[in-house]
Amino acid sequence: MSCVLLLSRADLSEVAALEAEHFPAPWSLEQFQSSYDRGMCRVHGVRDGAMLIGYISCLVLPPEMEILNMAMLPAFRRRGFGRALVTAALRGGTVMGVSICHLEVDETNLAAVNLYSALGFTRIGRRRGYYHCPQGTKDAILMTCESQYLKP
Ligand SMILES: CC(C)(COP(=O)(O)OP(=O)(O)OC[C@H]1O[C@@H](n2cnc3c(N)ncnc32)[C@H](O)[C@@H]1OP(=O)(O)O)[C@@H](O)C(=O)NCCC(=O)NCCS
Repeated sequence: MSCVLLLSRADLSEVAALEAEHFPAPWSLEQFQSSYDRGMCRVHGVRDGAMLIGYISCLVLPPEMEILNMAMLPAFRRRGFGRALVTAALRGGTVMGVSICHLEVDETNLAAVNLYSALGFTRIGRRRGYYHCPQGTKDAILMTCESQYLKP
């Protein structure tokens, strides 16, 4: 059975490849490495055998952290891995002294909005025109979590 792992610098090329598959403005490998080397970037992942099938990337600057991105390969969605990735990232942040987690998400991304809401994130604001898409722009909603996952 697959489980969530804290990924290392050596895993970042696979993370960057998954990121590029899923997002229109992906972080490059160099961005991941630079952030990792400065001790700010933590990435958790799930493997199926040797293959990385999902990840969550976070900036951790206690007492705050930010979820940058997360993605699961389509064939592995709706199996609870997304929930497990967010929970692992939040628990890891808590151990490092984080007490609040922020994120931005496309408000039309129901899978992600539902996932974050189910884990205790609440909407606190909106960034108009934050995402560029072929149809123009889309708003991002800002969410934060101070849930039980963040309490020591
Ligand atoms: C968002 C994403 C990471 C969720 O991963 P996942 O492994 O499928 O999530 P889980 O199986 O843990 O789902 C947990 C909960 O999230 C919600 N959810 C997940 N997918 C959903 C969907 N397609 N529609 C509605 N709600 C959904 C549900 O509440 C679900 O709980 P349930 O299965 O008990 O109903 C995945 O859909 C994905 O990779 N999407 C593309 C990339 C993306 O949008 N990333 C988010 C950027 S902020």
